[in-house]
Amino acid sequence: ALRAVAPRDLAGMRVAVSAGGTREPIDPVRFLGNRSSGRQGAALAAEAAARGAQVILVAANVSADVLAGARHPNVEVRPVATAAELGDAMREAAASADVVIMAAAVADYRPKTAADQKLTKEDGVLERIELVENEDIVAGLAASRPEGQTVVSFAAETNADASARRERAARKRERKGVDLLVVNRADAEHGFEKADNAVEIIGEGGAVAASAEGSKREVARAIWDAVTVRRTPR
Ligand code: CTP
Ligand code: CA
Repeated sequence: ALRAVAPRDLAGMRVAVSAGGTREPIDPVRFLGNRSSGRQGAALAAEAAARGAQVILVAANVSADVLAGARHPNVEVRPVATAAELGDAMREAAASADVVIMAAAVADYRPKTAADQKLTKEDGVLERIELVENEDIVAGLAASRPEGQTVVSFAAETNADASARRERAARKRERKGVDLLVVNRADAEHGFEKADNAVEIIGEGGAVAASAEGSKREVARAIWDAVTVRRTPR
């Protein structure tokens, strides 16, 4: 459902959101990448700003038209390309944030070396690219978070079975040490490169704290609602 006026329930809060997908260079003209458009992260930034938060949006390879959806006086965009750059930018933004949301799709691996000249077949057939693992950025942020900070991560799952998705998500939440883990189903109708999204938000003990389906803005609203509930003392 749409809403005429956003509540101001995030007023005075500082938030750091990552969006998009990292690109890991192979040579000056090629990279290892993924299909994340950055729309969900941009919607999270826009929703937070509309509700009064001060937002840093760390944007990995997000197009200008997607970023236009997050244009707001309270949103500062910091563009990055690689996982290493995204990690640096998020550590800096997170240092003074009340809430951190890692919506970006981060490459799990990067080429061990990037060629400084374009690879050419004249040099011979390229048979393999040696990879090294990227550090888990959100796990690092969660492990060294300032007192009282809420950390949220995402997980894109292609498994069609809802209970299998939840079980994997609960394990991932524990492993990363985050408060909330947003599971989005990545399939032909939902998730990457699509206007709509369908998510479950996994909290304490692997329980489903909330679920939402609809536009990425509607999903963003449900995520901020879940963050707010979690941060409100009862
Ligand atoms: N993430 C991260 N650093 C990485 C990889 C992922 O911070 N090097 C973050 C993503 O931004 C996302 C969350 O971790 O918020 C989940 O990513 P996902 O790929 O689902 O988890 P992985 O731990 O990489 O597990 P998998 O083997 O399923 O890819
Ligand atoms: Ca991964």
